[in-house]
Amino acid sequence: MRWKVATALASLIGLSTAQLARYVSPSDSSVSFSLNIPSSTSSSGSGAIFFQIRGPASGKSWIALGIGSGMAGSHIFVVYTDGSGNVTVSARAGQGHFEPEFSSDAEITLLGGSGIVDGSLIANVRCDNCLSLAELSVTNTRSNWIWADKDGSGLDTSDVEATIRQHDRTGTFTFDLTAAAGGDSSNPFVQSVRSSTSAAATGTGTRTSSGSTPTSSNPSSGSNGDDQNLGSGSSDTTTSGASSINKMLKIHGILMGLAFAVFFPFGSVIIRLLPGPHKADVHMVVQIIGFGLSIAGLAYGIMVAQDLRYITETHPIIGMVVMGGLFFQPIVGLIHHWLFKAKGKRTILAYIHTYWGRALLILGIVNGGLGLQLADNTTGGTIAYSVVAGVMGLAWLSASVLYYVRGGSKAAIGAKLEKPLSPDGLRE
Ligand code: HEM
Ligand code: HEM
Ligand code: HEM
Ligand SMILES: *[C@@H]1O[C@H](CO)[C@@H](O)[C@H](O)[C@H]1NC(C)=O
Repeated sequence: MRWKVATALASLIGLSTAQLARYVSPSDSSVSFSLNIPSSTSSSGSGAIFFQIRGPASGKSWIALGIGSGMAGSHIFVVYTDGSGNVTVSARAGQGHFEPEFSSDAEITLLGGSGIVDGSLIANVRCDNCLSLAELSVTNTRSNWIWADKDGSGLDTSDVEATIRQHDRTGTFTFDLTAAAGGDSSNPFVQSVRSSTSAAATGTGTRTSSGSTPTSSNPSSGSNGDDQNLGSGSSDTTTSGASSINKMLKIHGILMGLAFAVFFPFGSVIIRLLPGPHKADVHMVVQIIGFGLSIAGLAYGIMVAQDLRYITETHPIIGMVVMGGLFFQPIVGLIHHWLFKAKGKRTILAYIHTYWGRALLILGIVNGGLGLQLADNTTGGTIAYSVVAGVMGLAWLSASVLYYVRGGSKAAIGAKLEKPLSPDGLRE
């Protein structure tokens, strides 16, 4: 362990400097994040911690560090130029995949050494309550952190609530908090320090824009077994990680939306309203197409959910339950249909197919709304989905009600006494 050697050397030559854990962006070695936990904090388990966010003086709109494993639930610190040679540190609460809102929960102080210094943008920060806020234990050797940055011209504002645009790169990594412990400085970043860059932090990153080839200045990046990020640790495979996720997400939403808000309700209207003997065949064809679309959509949903570690969210869970239940629907429908043709009357399977099908479709349509919420889709997308789902749902409801008002299956069977057997036994 290199840092152990470093620590041993430091103590040998009598340095009582602060110990820093450091993580360098895998895509841009000028972007780095450092952490120090002073001895007083590490021994008592509570107290202030120090961190530094560093990047190039120009070319970055903002750079951020967050305590957490993903945007949702993270305590995020966004740094940008303040327009007068110093930096603004904006503490924000991550709540999902959208702009984190300013939060005054974190008690932070900008320290000396911060500003645009020698071609670098530097924020040296003391946070008095970060440990308790993020429920971090000083003995945690694998605490979860996130980072992100955005290319562009400086924001040049001292407004801590400034609007920021979505990142070009993100990553997750872990800090070994025990490796960051040491020193009693009130500003560990202004003195010469021993930095334990290599072993104290491990992680991966992903870029959403084509940037320069990442220089691997972080010897441990991607080499640990902790690759939970969008891409693996190797830079090539992460290049388009997030944008391909967005594409997969869109395909998933469109396929599922078509299946649950268009095809399934349409097929259900057909079985109730289409005149003539072929309503069951048309219903079958429409529902099988919908079924195919939803299975393709499921595949994309699973890929997105795995990548974003979302498989435990309500939306994917309900979605998988619905898809699992749907599996029986065409089988039961077909058997019912054959039995009906053979026996000339409805079996219990008709009711199973009908009520099971209705329950699944309603769940599925509602789940589409949850998906839009989870993805934080644009209001336009949400409105479009709601309108289509609403119209189709209403048509379906009216069709079913109309069917029962007209006498439903009794009328159908009554009609059959005079007429030759209709293939599905439904009223014509
Ligand atoms: C306007 C502000 C922001 C928007 C709209 C936004 C949006 C998103 C979206 C849509 C994703 C998932 C897909 C992708 O990677 O592109 C994401 C992921 C991520 N974002 Fe943000 N973000 C914002 C700010 C931030 C900030 C300030 C941080 C600070 C560290 C951050 C850290 C991350 C990380 C680490 C991920 C990957 C892990 C995860 O899925 O949570 N984001 N963001
Ligand atoms: C994933 C595929 C399918 C789904 C989601 C589905 C869904 C539904 C739903 C929701 C209803 C009730 C409509 C209402 O609300 O009144 C229904 C009725 C019906 N379905 Fe399907 N269906 C599927 C496949 C099939 C197949 C393959 C057949 C075979 C021909 C079939 C035959 C029928 C019949 C005959 C009825 C009328 C039952 C009755 O009331 O007697 N369905 N289906
Ligand atoms: C009833 C079935 C389902 C329907 C109707 C449905 C529909 C949707 C829709 C409309 C979106 C929003 C897409 C967008 O904004 O572009 C979405 C997002 C999502 N879906 Fe589904 N989905 C279903 C099942 C599933 C399943 C089975 C999974 C995973 C196993 C899944 C995973 C996801 C994830 C992870 C997101 C959001 C990703 C993000 O936050 O960025 N969905 N879904
Ligand atoms: C930036 O602000 C901090 C905190 O007020 C201060 O200590 C630091 O010296 C300032 N940096 C510059 C370059 O003015």
